[in-house]
Amino acid sequence: MNIALPAELSAALDALLEGASRRDLAARAARQSAAYRGGGTSADIATEADALAYAIARMPATYAAVRAVLARVAQVMPDFAPSSIADIGAGPGTASWAALDAWPGTAHVTMLDSNAALRALAAKLAANLPDVRIVAGDVGAVPQADLLLASYVLAELPESRAAHTALRLWEASGRMLVLVEPGTPAGFSRIRAARAALIEAGAHVAAPCTHDADCPMRGDDWCHFSQRLPRSRDHMRAKDANVPFEDERYSYLAMTRTPVAKGARIVAPPSEAKPGIALPLCDVSGLRQAFVPRRDKQAFRHARKLDWGDLVLD
Ligand SMILES: C[S@@+](CC[C@H](N)C(=O)[O-])C[C@H]1O[C@@H](n2cnc3c(N)ncnc32)[C@H](O)[C@@H]1O
Repeated sequence: MNIALPAELSAALDALLEGASRRDLAARAARQSAAYRGGGTSADIATEADALAYAIARMPATYAAVRAVLARVAQVMPDFAPSSIADIGAGPGTASWAALDAWPGTAHVTMLDSNAALRALAAKLAANLPDVRIVAGDVGAVPQADLLLASYVLAELPESRAAHTALRLWEASGRMLVLVEPGTPAGFSRIRAARAALIEAGAHVAAPCTHDADCPMRGDDWCHFSQRLPRSRDHMRAKDANVPFEDERYSYLAMTRTPVAKGARIVAPPSEAKPGIALPLCDVSGLRQAFVPRRDKQAFRHARKLDWGDLVLD
């Protein structure tokens, strides 16, 4: 399933693009993406044009990843609905927009970021949203909220700070903390360190894990998922791309104060062959393959609808 930016957010971005040089934005986006690939951070985003280039090139993908994660959270905790959200390292406000789409009844939204150019853009994009506060600040000192979100933020800090930062965010989370990171070994490594520290501190995993036991991923394996999103013409131009979609790889962690563990998670693409479908699963017993034979018609029909990232209930 494709996840696109909400129409209101797309319209706000389009309005800011009016009269902007697409060539200049593409050049800025290319410089930013080369800097990220080289381990750089958003600190180089210094002007209005830089911030807009970031939003055009990256916001559709980070939005799609966060929105997919929040759908997973809602699946395992259907009664969860935050009354307040704090979006830490909010950038242009991506995760807040995803959370408002998941839980439109949220009353208060705080977007915190250390980058002035990105805060200014977040304010313009959110101009028509009710009760949004945009504050300057650091991940080390964050406001309290029912739901704390930090999307693609730990990647900007040294890996050694991931666990400590996650604990500070957890202390400010009334009910839930959601972390989303690039679906790379480095992104997962931060998620894994945060997971271990948060479980030690008494938190429970809501997703993707269906258990609070040690993470069984070893060696070259890293837990990550993929979300498809459409690319607009401006998005394609900013990324010098020639297909109208992209697949965003991400790793994530949603932690709660009450245990919700059940079932198993599909942690890699299922593979279908003549005899049946193999589902790579992770659950409390570790990593395993479940095989659903084609001759078991009902189970096979059901398994065929399952995808990477889905929950399998017993
Ligand atoms: C890659 S961007 C992600 C933005 C947004 N969360 C998203 O998913 O699109 C990382 C954001 O984290 C912010 N950031 C990095 N280090 C920070 C810190 N120590 N305190 C507050 N914000 C920080 C950056 O300014 C930037 O906006």
